[in-house]
Amino acid sequence: MTMDAGITPATLSALIALVRKHTGIAMTERKSVLLERRLRPRVQALKLNSYQAYLDMVEQDRAEIPHFIDLVTTNDTLFFRTPQVWDYVEQEFLPQWWREHPGKRLKVWSAAASSGEELYSMAMLCEEFQAAHPGFSYQIHATDISRQILALARDGQYTGRSVERIQSSHPDWVKKYFRPSANGLRVVDALKNNVELAQHNLLTPLKPAKQFDLVFLRNVLIYFDQEQQQTILQQARLSMAAHSVMIVGESESISGLNTAYQFDRPMIYRME
Ligand SMILES: C[S@@+](CC[C@H](N)C(=O)[O-])C[C@H]1O[C@@H](n2cnc3c(N)ncnc32)[C@H](O)[C@@H]1O
Repeated sequence: MTMDAGITPATLSALIALVRKHTGIAMTERKSVLLERRLRPRVQALKLNSYQAYLDMVEQDRAEIPHFIDLVTTNDTLFFRTPQVWDYVEQEFLPQWWREHPGKRLKVWSAAASSGEELYSMAMLCEEFQAAHPGFSYQIHATDISRQILALARDGQYTGRSVERIQSSHPDWVKKYFRPSANGLRVVDALKNNVELAQHNLLTPLKPAKQFDLVFLRNVLIYFDQEQQQTILQQARLSMAAHSVMIVGESESISGLNTAYQFDRPMIYRME
């Protein structure tokens, strides 16, 4: 393939439609460079001679769809991303929930879990809370549309920026909840005991429906148009317990959308 060829306008429109069909993500023509950068290694590895040939392949070969989804999704994440959210969970949400639900098991959903930093951040907070509150127990259900990124979350092995972040924000917890691995750190098995991971598209119903007490839906709504955001929020609502809490990303506000979620404070919403 002449890699200088780039994506033609017709192929770009068809690729954008395909991204939307398989993930719901609303891309615009401005994402041409991003799509090229993401797809190029795959097109080359498959020895195809154009982006159009790759597009044809995704349309004809179902086995290629998961690879395509892995390539077009953005998986940036960090341990304890947006620290004020975690201060809220630690200092307000957990103590209040435990006061109101003594003896119950806390059910958490990390709904666009990416490589797992969010769900293990929550698992660490829960482990600490449990040590101070005997009888407390929890379950974290983590989902993502990308099977490849979920495999990384399941493995729980981290390098680079993720490691730097946890080392600077929680050095004591690195000693407690991580072990050195080949290129960085791996979470201890104890942190995985109350975690289950599953592939799930947020635009579809979660099966079986669960009654979560706390839902992280962070840094994923931004990839969707307003109509799709409504659909995602309606679907998520079906899996939320009464008076449960939903946390969105820093640059995301759902106040303008017509939903059942009540604004509590920036990033924090409550179900009635
Ligand atoms: C930027 S990451 C957010 C990770 C984490 N929640 C955080 O805030 O750090 C967005 C994740 O959403 C996932 N995603 C994109 N479209 C999705 C969809 N339709 N259903 C489920 N997950 C999706 C991507 O695969 C990616 O891992």
